[in-house]
Amino acid sequence: MKALWLWLIPVSVLFLLGLEQVESKKYQRCELTRVLVENYNFDKTFLSNWICLVEHESELNTSKITPKENNSKNYGLFQINSKNYCSEGRKGGQCNKKCEDFSNDDIGDDIVCAKMIQEREGFKYWKGWDRFCRNPQNLPNLRVACNLRSLSPLRTPRGFLGHG
Ligand SMILES: *[C@@H]1O[C@H](CO)[C@@H](O)[C@H](O)[C@H]1NC(C)=O
Ligand SMILES: *[C@@H]1O[C@H](CO)[C@@H](O)[C@H](O)[C@H]1NC(C)=O
Repeated sequence: MKALWLWLIPVSVLFLLGLEQVESKKYQRCELTRVLVENYNFDKTFLSNWICLVEHESELNTSKITPKENNSKNYGLFQINSKNYCSEGRKGGQCNKKCEDFSNDDIGDDIVCAKMIQEREGFKYWKGWDRFCRNPQNLPNLRVACNLRSLSPLRTPRGFLGHG
């Protein structure tokens, strides 16, 4: 019995540490590049803008939360602001999402919202893009650094065939 307890404690600790890691993730540049193309069908033309933006907004950290001067907060990989696009503690905002859901390691919902923001307001919505990525010379060369050419979406959505 005693031996069982001695075994259980370290195992539980490891389990809890594991859970914490699942909640938050810090990407590497090329890792995120691959995930955005393969799993989320990002257009390669603008990918270096997205990567540059995320690097300057969240340092590729999915759990980053930044309090802003105007009492709002920016959430997650894309630092989506709680005043307009999501709502704290409940679903809301223009993306109809709970802001807290943007700070876990599931980036699918973040991406849907970020793409909507980009379509409506352009990349200039993000201060990090405006300051550091607006000049194309500052964008990372993903073709060289991350072998962008070799990447393609894992699942081709119906009707998308022939475009890629
Ligand atoms: C990611 O951001 C969270 C919240 O700000 C912080 O606690 C964590 O240390 C960061 N992770 C890394 C690897 O920087
Ligand atoms: C508050 O600040 C954030 C980040 O700077 C900005 O995106 C948002 O539009 C501001 N909201 C208001 C109501 O001023």
